Amino acid sequence: SQRTLVILKPDAVKRGLVGEIIGRIERKAGWTIPAMELRTLDQETLEAHYGEHKGKVFYEPLMGFMASGPAVVLVVEGERAIEGVRQLAGPTDPIAAAPGSIRGDFGTIVRENLIHASDSEESAERELKLFFPAL
Ligand code: GTP
Ligand code: MG
Repeated sequence: SQRTLVILKPDAVKRGLVGEIIGRIERKAGWTIPAMELRTLDQETLEAHYGEHKGKVFYEPLMGFMASGPAVVLVVEGERAIEGVRQLAGPTDPIAAAPGSIRGDFGTIVRENLIHASDSEESAERELKLFFPAL
């Protein structure tokens, strides 16, 4: 089984969608949530997390948005959890995301797309260490 790092972004918390999104993750057969926390993300953590996007036009607004309020950070563990949560989330652009996916059902704005999920085993390992070093 795999572990993946998931963030319910500040828009999801502000809009009261945490229960709805966690519910979709919880209902996947055999998946568990070994850690979860409400946390306002600091600049240092965000820079390490989204370092691959530094210099892109959307980077600074993304940093501001991700620090704009509390987020929910969690670990999802289970069968093919990395690919599985990405599938539940849908593509980055919520308008391109199919209905039935989290971004497709609730999002419109590319930046405010509700959820982050690690995109590979390498990213998951790095992000889990960054957000839950004690786990
Ligand atoms: P994350 O799970 O958050 O990493 O999303 P992702 O892997 O689907 O997308 P990516 O890593 O390419 O981009 C990270 C985040 O930056 C996205 O989730 C969006 O919030 C934002 N973002 C990405 N591309 C764009 C863009 O072209 N315009 C804007 N405004 N924001 C973008
Ligand atoms: Mg990404």
